[in-house]
Amino acid sequence: MMMTRWALRTSPLALLLAANACIGENTTDSVQVGYRGTAMEQNYDRAKVTASFKQVRIPDPLPPAGESPPGPLPWKNVQVLNDISVGEFNRTMVAMSTWVAGTGNCAYCHNLANMASDTLPNGKPLYTKLVARRMLQMTRQINGQYSQHVKNTGVTCYTCHLGKPLPNGLWFYSSQTDYLRHYLDRDGARVITQQVAPSNANRSSVKQTEWTYSLMISQSKSLGVNCTYCHNSRQFASWKEAPPARVTAYHGILMLRDVNQSYLAPLQPVYPAVRLGQLGDAPKAQCVTCHNGNYKPLYGAQMVKHYPALWGRPDWDGVPFKGLGPTAVDSNAAVSTPGAGATPPAAPVNKAAAMSKASTTAPVSGVSVGGTR
Ligand code: HEC
Ligand code: HEC
Ligand code: HEC
Ligand code: HEC
Repeated sequence: MMMTRWALRTSPLALLLAANACIGENTTDSVQVGYRGTAMEQNYDRAKVTASFKQVRIPDPLPPAGESPPGPLPWKNVQVLNDISVGEFNRTMVAMSTWVAGTGNCAYCHNLANMASDTLPNGKPLYTKLVARRMLQMTRQINGQYSQHVKNTGVTCYTCHLGKPLPNGLWFYSSQTDYLRHYLDRDGARVITQQVAPSNANRSSVKQTEWTYSLMISQSKSLGVNCTYCHNSRQFASWKEAPPARVTAYHGILMLRDVNQSYLAPLQPVYPAVRLGQLGDAPKAQCVTCHNGNYKPLYGAQMVKHYPALWGRPDWDGVPFKGLGPTAVDSNAAVSTPGAGATPPAAPVNKAAAMSKASTTAPVSGVSVGGTR
């Protein structure tokens, strides 16, 4: 008995000494993420962070576009990028060639005999160009409408594509990816009971708790962080006690639903069969598609600052937001309002403003993504 007590008293001290020794050797950094006194900190292994940072290759911005010739835009079939100068247009094409096709090759998306054409010389649809046009609209939507998530860092094609046609973390319908439908057409991740006494109020099944757990493990892995990056582990359901990152993450979920529902899933009829899943559905994205194992994609490099064609708003040059419309809620402020387990802030909704000029030309009908848990 005496021994156990002694051990209990001294072991934290021993741990503290061990931790101090580590800090002394400069191998671990400890960052406070929760409120004071809650002992919520993240530990980072400095060597690992440095190694992973070195793996991230961030392309240098292309030289700024030169003066454009006067007169109307010379294009024959431009439906999205018709609001930028000729110089900026060409510069964006060159950037896209290295970000997505990797090779710097225009032919990945173009019929070189006719750059305006959306079909191959044999008359078949040029799916890469059709997909790329929709990707332009999607990228503008993300940067223009989801500032609560992507902040002033934003995304370019490179954030997801990393210099190759197929991004990481593509998923299709299957029994193994059921939980990822939280990023498409399902909800119900909140499974924790709010009352102490047993009651029928919470009808969540054991299976649903497994889905929540799979979802959360995948979020942690996608960002390369632990659960405590977003939760206070004494009350996983509480928004009030959680670090602000959890609200950011929630906006990420809302953004992904829009990305998958409005852009990626409806591209199904455009893709060749080889790109589709076993059940015939289009490839979809998840957190890792942008984050690639880092808490901020590309460690927060503001690539899009240099590419106005991808802003989705005329007034943004990558500097922190000021005087934005109603969607510019400070995500941190939202943290202090909800009670334990209460609903987080509402989704940003005014899509219409973002894509005023961009029209939907890729087919958007076709797939039904229904289904409930
Ligand atoms: C990742 C796919 C992709 C790559 C690679 C690409 N383009 Fe494009 N290009 C597009 C899309 C999509 C459009 C239509 C944009 C729109 O509708 O707003 C387009 C349109 C154009 C047009 C306008 C033609 C017209 O009159 O309608 C020109 C010119 C052009 N691209 C040149 C190039 C050049 C030069 C390269 C290589 C340096 C290149 N593109 C590489 C996707 C691509
Ligand atoms: C949020 C992540 C994301 C962003 C940002 C993004 N893409 Fe994609 N892209 C995807 C996903 C997911 C696919 C589906 C991959 C596949 O084709 O199997 C895809 C597919 C494509 C394809 C078809 C590739 C193929 O061979 O099947 C092209 C072309 C493309 N994207 C171009 C672009 C361009 C151009 C941009 C920037 C304007 C861009 N993408 C931005 C996620 C993204
Ligand atoms: C990147 C941030 C993030 C990380 C990391 C994370 N979570 Fe979550 N968690 C969330 C968000 C956001 C929700 C709410 C999801 C929703 O309602 O759509 C949530 C919900 C939950 C819930 C349901 C709470 C309720 O109200 O019933 C549990 C349980 C949970 N997380 C556990 C975990 C565990 C265990 C881990 C580590 C394996 C983890 N989380 C990692 C952000 C995160
Ligand atoms: C379209 C690309 C994209 C997708 C998809 C995406 N994120 Fe992010 N996320 C970003 C960008 C860009 C930032 C950096 C914003 C900034 O500079 O604060 C970010 C930042 C975050 C942060 C804040 C990190 C910090 O320390 O401040 C969290 C947490 C996060 N994302 C969670 C998620 C989760 C969880 C998902 C999936 C549900 C997700 N993200 C999906 C692009 C994305």
